[in-house]
Amino acid sequence: MIREALLGGRGEVIKNPKVFMDPLAFFKDIPFREDILREVAISIRYFVKNNVKFSTLFLGLTGTGKTLVAKYILNEIEEIKPEDPSYAELTQAYVNCREVGGTPQAVLSALTEKLTGKPVPKHGINLGEYVEAIKEGLGKKKAIVYLDEVDTLVKRRGGDIVLYQLLRTDADISTIMISNDINVRDYMEPRIVSSLGPTIIFKPYDAEQLMKILEMYSDIGLYKGTYDSEVLAYIAAISAKEHGDARKAVNLLFRAAQLASGTGRITKAHVDRAIIEYEQEKLLEAVKALPFHYKLALMAVIEAEDLMSAHKVYSDLCVKYGQKPLSYRRFSDIVSELDMFGIVKVKLINRGRAGGIRKYVEVPDREKVKKVLEENMLLGVE
Ligand SMILES: Nc1ncnc2c1ncn2[C@@H]1O[C@H](COP(=O)(O)OP(=O)(O)OP(=O)(O)O)[C@@H](O)[C@H]1O
Ligand SMILES: [Mg+2]
Repeated sequence: MIREALLGGRGEVIKNPKVFMDPLAFFKDIPFREDILREVAISIRYFVKNNVKFSTLFLGLTGTGKTLVAKYILNEIEEIKPEDPSYAELTQAYVNCREVGGTPQAVLSALTEKLTGKPVPKHGINLGEYVEAIKEGLGKKKAIVYLDEVDTLVKRRGGDIVLYQLLRTDADISTIMISNDINVRDYMEPRIVSSLGPTIIFKPYDAEQLMKILEMYSDIGLYKGTYDSEVLAYIAAISAKEHGDARKAVNLLFRAAQLASGTGRITKAHVDRAIIEYEQEKLLEAVKALPFHYKLALMAVIEAEDLMSAHKVYSDLCVKYGQKPLSYRRFSDIVSELDMFGIVKVKLINRGRAGGIRKYVEVPDREKVKKVLEENMLLGVE
């Protein structure tokens, strides 16, 4: 029964899944970001050849190509090193601030390791010492630092000081910072904002641009005749509505192609199913990110019939997890917020004179939400 899937014979849709995971290994250009690439390339040239340091902030909503562009630049620089000796000595370091943990300590130690090529202690040394170690490690060499998802760093105490030290150090470091939080500058002190350098805005892609992007992926990733422009246009239109998110577009196409595997053709129905899965995944991500008492409240409304008894379950859970329970009123506010997020649905039901009006809570993806919560609760109390 699985032979067909293993062999990938009849009705196979996906020719090359890698392009969906590692597009830079396949694409020579990044469409619709040419102006940005040229502008940054010129700054880099001035830096490398004329000793003009720069720093810049890539700002744009999620899925607008910021990380892709940064990694593309990094790769291109590595590739021209053999061709142009002025680039040969340039060191590059890419750090995703969120992935390394987001604290000033975590970001600086990751950065120091990448720039100096030596292991450094993760604790017990102060921030200034990292910067000193970077200076010493680089010597006369120049470096370009890419700080992705820098908002996670800046929102931590002392995070903006890290930037200040990097931007103001007398070492030859140029910096590209990246954020999808449009308000990231509000978290920084004015003196830091002023040394930030120009901001480069990544505009959302429109439906037409997303269509072209999807064509690039299907051209390499899918077999001819398994898709048509109608299906691509459908995905593009939906993703354009969600602030021109290319990640969503590419993921939907890939998922729809997987669902169509064996049938030989991606249809609108496959896309619709991919969309439902995508929405569900986003919902579960949202559940994971909830504050602890919200998780307890959600757990309680899953277990209980109505809001009153949910508060009782919630209070018991609080005891179990060593937390002080919030009042019924506050609990009820939290449940209303969960309703606003679309995680639960609060319903008022009139039980007649004796029962009065009672609030019931429905959890649409009950089983999945419960599973995520249980896995998440085990990880510990915040
Ligand atoms: N111009 C483009 N051409 C081809 N693919 C693109 C383009 N822009 C984005 N993509 C696709 O969208 C995905 C998401 O892009 P990217 O990771 O750069 O988003 P981002 O702006 O960094 O978002 P976030 O703020 O969430 O980190 C990429 O992995 C790539 O598949
Ligand atoms: Mg990114």
